[in-house]
Amino acid sequence: MQRTLIIIKPDAVQKKATGKILDRFIEEGFEIKALKMLRFTEEQAKQFYIVHKDRPFYGELVEFMTSGPVVAAILEGENAIQRVREIIGPTDSEEARKVAPNSVRALFGTDKGKNAIHASDSEESASYEIPFIFSGLEVV
Ligand code: CMP
Repeated sequence: MQRTLIIIKPDAVQKKATGKILDRFIEEGFEIKALKMLRFTEEQAKQFYIVHKDRPFYGELVEFMTSGPVVAAILEGENAIQRVREIIGPTDSEEARKVAPNSVRALFGTDKGKNAIHASDSEESASYEIPFIFSGLEVV
């Protein structure tokens, strides 16, 4: 069993897609081990995405992620990190609609930036991201 972090981003929360997205992962067989709504401060978003600090889109990413509430969850399942990445689809929602039309980003995202959902991309990032968002007491 493996755990991964997802964050339903401000665009998808605003579109009222939270329930549909969570349901998709439940239908796909994952167990929700923790769940909460939060709003990132600028400092928190910068720290969460620190690996991207030198990328040209870093400022835009931080601005977007602080623009409204997000819903974070820990999902557990076999090979969860890779399977969840497959279910969310490519980073760019426009590309996702071409290559993975049933993916979460194809269905609920707009483009490269407003792409509906984040998911940990490796064991290393999951082990940074999960305790960044959830304390031990919040995980069942
Ligand atoms: P996410 O999986 O949350 O991890 C990093 C995020 O950076 C990514 O999803 C995108 O939302 C964002 N991102 C990646 N490339 C670009 C880009 N070219 N322009 C804007 N945002 C980007």
